[in-house]
Amino acid sequence: MKFFVDTADLSEIQEASDMGVLDGVTTNPSLMRKAGGSDFHEHIRMICEIVDGDVSAEVIATDYEGIMSEARALAALHENVVVKVPLILDGIKAIRSLKEQGIKTNCTLCFSPTQALVAAKAGATYISPFIGRLDDISTPGMELIEQIVQIYENYGFPTQVLVASIRHPMHVVESAIIGAHVATMPFTVIKQLIKHPLTDIGLDRFISDWKAYQAAAEAGSNGIDV
Ligand code: E4P
Repeated sequence: MKFFVDTADLSEIQEASDMGVLDGVTTNPSLMRKAGGSDFHEHIRMICEIVDGDVSAEVIATDYEGIMSEARALAALHENVVVKVPLILDGIKAIRSLKEQGIKTNCTLCFSPTQALVAAKAGATYISPFIGRLDDISTPGMELIEQIVQIYENYGFPTQVLVASIRHPMHVVESAIIGAHVATMPFTVIKQLIKHPLTDIGLDRFISDWKAYQAAAEAGSNGIDV
């Protein structure tokens, strides 16, 4: 399973990348607003210089010509750029054209299996089902992931299922059990993945026992040279 970090914050991206387990980045207009700055293209280029993997950058246009024009400009920024396109009629048409032009796409704002099926038929590189936002309205987001993974397997679609709108580690666990290709998550969730209270308790005990062992050795009471 690939791990993407869902942020446009450069220091968070650098920190996540330094962990050595980061495969890519997803951004969106809301995340850009949160990160701040004034030069969108330069910001995306900087992310691409940090991470050796796919970096999703979203178009703002909602008409075919506008999406195509923004997509070409974004794709020209860096070879890591994947153009994020909304799951609307003109977006689907653009995804088809962009595939023919060899430009990778991430089809975003997916909330149903039919949307995911159409995006795969259009040739999207990634489909982004937003599971947290479904959970927010009392609809089980994880069921959507199961359905999409099954449908793509049934027909051998190469489109990768990129689980988005992840809120907590169990979303990652369940996505991995289902076999989704990618999980994009806030950096806080990436850090939560490695946390376990028994690890912390166990490590504290090892360290205090080691100190006691050393103190005893220095005092000559255990007969071992340190
Ligand atoms: C995915 O690509 C989106 O940027 C993101 O996961 C949306 O998450 P949210 O529902 O927490 O805003």
